[in-house]
Formats: sequence, C-alpha cells, structure tokens
Amino acid sequence: MNSSELQNIKNRYNVIGRSSELDQAINVAIQVAPTDLSVLITGESGVGKEIIPRIIHDNSARKHKKFFAINCGSIPEGTIDSELFGHEKGAFTDAHGERDGYFATANGGTLFLDEVGELPLATQARLLRVLETGEYIRVGSSQVRKTDVRIVAATNVNLHNAIKERRFREDLYYRLNTIPIKMPPLRERGEDVVLLFRKFAVDISEKYGMPAIQLTDDAKQLLMQYSWPGNIRQLKNLTEQISIITKERVITRDILLQYITPDEQQSGLVLANPTGPHTFENERGIIYKLLFDLKNDVASLKQMINDSKKQTASTEKLRSEAVPLGGNLLDQGFPTTITMDGTPQGDIQYRITTSPHTNDNHMEITPAEVVEEAPLSMRDSEKKQIIQALERCHGKRRQAAEQLGISERTLYRKIKEYAIEV
Ligand SMILES: Nc1ncnc2c1ncn2[C@@H]1O[C@H](COP(=O)(O)OP(=O)(O)OP(=O)(O)O)[C@@H](O)[C@H]1O
Ligand SMILES: [Mg+2]
Repeated sequence: MNSSELQNIKNRYNVIGRSSELDQAINVAIQVAPTDLSVLITGESGVGKEIIPRIIHDNSARKHKKFFAINCGSIPEGTIDSELFGHEKGAFTDAHGERDGYFATANGGTLFLDEVGELPLATQARLLRVLETGEYIRVGSSQVRKTDVRIVAATNVNLHNAIKERRFREDLYYRLNTIPIKMPPLRERGEDVVLLFRKFAVDISEKYGMPAIQLTDDAKQLLMQYSWPGNIRQLKNLTEQISIITKERVITRDILLQYITPDEQQSGLVLANPTGPHTFENERGIIYKLLFDLKNDVASLKQMINDSKKQTASTEKLRSEAVPLGGNLLDQGFPTTITMDGTPQGDIQYRITTSPHTNDNHMEITPAEVVEEAPLSMRDSEKKQIIQALERCHGKRRQAAEQLGISERTLYRKIKEYAIEV
C-alpha cells in the first residue's frame, strides 16, 4: 500500500498518527482483509485496537454483510453461550422462545470478539469448534448447524500467561492468532502523542465552541517523555480535562505538571526516555529506580490501609465533599491496589473546590489528599462514580465506560465487585 492509500484509510477511520508501527498494523489489516483468516489484535489498554476490525471488515468481500462487535468481558458467563450460539426454547429458565446467536446472525459477515481473553473455558471449546469446522450447536439443542463467519479477536491481556494459568486454551490461541496484529503503546509512537493531543483539543473546542488549547515546546517534550499507561484513552481524557478546567489556552509544562502527578511523571520519564547512551549502568539505574518506586508505592499503600482503619467522622465529612471528576486512576498512573501480578488497578479521585475568593465559578483542581482518602473511601467514591455514570448513560455500559475512561470489561468487573444493580 502506498502512502496516499494509507493516508486515505487513516482519514476514513479518523486514525491519527504517523509512527511506523501504527502504519505497519494498518498495512497488515488491509493485506489480510480479503482473506478469511482469523486475526488476533493485541496491545495495551487504550491503544486503539477497536479500529482494526472495522478496517478489516470494510475492506473484505464481507463488507455488505453484518459486522458485530461483542465484548466478551461484558457478557455474564451464564448467558454468553446463548448470546453467541443461540438457544432452544426451554434451554434454561428464561428461555421462553428459541433464539439465534451472533454466529447465526452474522452468517457471511464478521464477528469481532473483543476482550477475547475473558471468554469462559466452556465457551472457548465451542468457539474452537466453530473456527475449525464452521459448526456450532445452540444451547439446549443437539442439532449441528453451519455458519460462515470471519473472526477478528482482540485482547489487552497477556494470553501466554493466561495459557500458563490454564485460563485460556492453547489450541484456541493458535487458531485465533493466524494473523497477529500488534498495536504499539503510545509511549513508543514519538510525535504521534502531540498530533493526537491536537486532534482531541480541536474536537473538544468544536464541541463546546471555545478556542483549542495549544502546547508550548517544553510541554510537548513532557508529553513525549511520559509513559502513558492508559495510552490514547488516557491522553484523550487528559486533553479534555485540561481544555475544560484550565482557563489558559497555551499549555505550558508547568500547567501539564498539575495534571500529571510528580511520582507518575518521574517513573514515566524514566521508563519512556532513559537519557544518555544505552548502557548497562543506565539500565541498572532504571531498574533500581523502578524497584524503589515500587517499594514506596507498597509502603504508601500500607499507610493508606492503616489510616483507613483509623478513619473517623472527620474523614467521613471529607468523603462527602469529594467530587469525582471522571478521571481514571490508571489514566493518572496512580495505583491504589496492586494485584498479585503487580498490575495497578483502581481510580484516583480529584477534589474540585470552588475558590472562596472569587465569585466567577473559578475551579481549582488539586489531586485529593490521597493519603486521607484511604481505600475504603476510594471504593465508595468509585462506586458512586460508576452509578452516576450508568445513570447518566441510562444503563448503557459502553457509553458509561467511555465516560469513566475505563474499558467496558473493567466496568463490568467493577459492577460485579460493588454489586451495583443495573
Ligand atoms: N490512532 C488514533 N487516532 C485517534 N483516536 C484514536 C486512535 N487510537 C485510538 N483512538 C481513540 O482512543 C480511544 C481508545 O481506543 P480503543 O477503544 O480502540 O482502545 P483499546 O485498545 O480497545 O483499549 P481496551 O483494551 O482498554 O479496550 C478511543 O476513543 C479511540 O477512538
Ligand atoms: Mg477495546
């Protein structure tokens, strides 16, 4: 594909960026599109995996047939087989009538199985069968049916680990991974981060009829050096936050530093741009730095947990004053909980206070005193934030997840975790 064809694709799908890894991913998508081969898209959360299946479908012979995107992580385990493969009348308590699943409805078209790593093992076995033979069986039936569906799958989890832990079938992995497409993390895309910032700044300015924010040179440098754990989703949220909250339209490095916490910024800089020549000494320094940061994180988490136990009524007051902003913890790069494999999860919250010295509704935003907002309070606040987002979006999870700046899968998990009724 020559560069003008590539640019046409980018324009058509609103894909911003010029990095060679991004171009390579789009190139592979276009090349594989006319075939029926399965494609597995991998990449960290927020890198833009969801654009690829659309490009594949629209450039395939199946483009006039159906395209379905299914988030495997957001469908409850008890209903996913029926959703995908359909069911017979009476197959389970609520099965009042028979129903086609996605494999029947998408016949001739493309199914995008997003968050495929979340599929239950029993469903994985059914999926393997349909991939190998084109055959499937509805829940509650013994009749074998045929379908012709092209599968494109995506995941942000490490499927090799999932295979080791017996959560994902190895045979299915190889079947899905016929053509792998890796979406690069934002920190490896060089100046793309600045282009994306500009695009999001213009989008939000048009939406709210205000001048777009611009970056000074040192602010651009900071953006390019930062590690972006939440990738493009995080950048989008950040750009929107700054556009709305900051009065200044020229964003300096100092203004940016109000939104990227020093800890996060430090480790981001170290990870993304080790200065000086690439030597063993440098690498050792980086590793020490990371271990040191990790140790500090664990120490402060312990402190937070201890403090939370001692929390008194005054903390309750603080809690009730806290106004969640919708920024995601991952987006701010601040771990509240560390799971066994060391993955940071959870949300940070910011407190917005109306300045007592002004009457112009001026808002000051400061990172909330995280140490005082111990885990329990954070959980309450996070739960509240999720409920509010779901209400705002009339229960539409995809939309609510987008507003919260988290993936639909994470939202689904949190709904379960907090037993939120939807
Ligand atoms: N190259 C790009 N140009 C413009 N916007 C992009 C680009 N890549 C991603 N985005 C935007 O970034 C956001 C996150 O992208 P997307 O939902 O595809 O992430 P993802 O890789 O599926 O993440 P997750 O694994 O968490 O689901 C979306 O709003 C998307 O429109
Ligand atoms: Mg996604």
